[in-house]
Amino acid sequence: MAASAGMTMAKRVLVLNGPNLNMLGQRQPEIYGRTTLAEIDADVETAAGELGMEAVCRQSNHEGELVTWIQEARGDFDAIVINAAAYTHTSVALLDALTLFEGPVVEVHLSNIHRREAFRHRSYISGATLGMIAGFGPVGYRLALLALADRWRADGGAP
Ligand code: DQA
Repeated sequence: MAASAGMTMAKRVLVLNGPNLNMLGQRQPEIYGRTTLAEIDADVETAAGELGMEAVCRQSNHEGELVTWIQEARGDFDAIVINAAAYTHTSVALLDALTLFEGPVVEVHLSNIHRREAFRHRSYISGATLGMIAGFGPVGYRLALLALADRWRADGGAP
């Protein structure tokens, strides 16, 4: 869609999910619930539409692929919502890539990582984010979009 006078372009949000999140629904349902990633993605797309945004959802089990997508998001997306899954706790490469991205980044975790094993308490990527939403299950992605909408509203931008 090309910009024209009086018309506001929808903000584009890249929603990234990291390793093993493609297994949602089957993976430790007592922790992650029964909702599949396809269902989460569909809900995120609906929520984005309601907020006047456009969401593009991607998942990868590969750290380098996530890094490449974050690099490519520069100039193409206005914000990133990311659940880096286990890479949250290990990846300087993701931190560096997210630091390079000019727009706001919101970190999401389905589970409350601070209630779990000590190695999950530390997020390497938090230093590049606006904030983190953890512990609310799938609705966390919607909350992330809401946080972005609120930030843009406060900044005077759309939506
Ligand atoms: C997770 C929490 C991580 O510690 C874990 O490795 C995941 C999922 C979450 O959404 O709660 O894969 O990011």
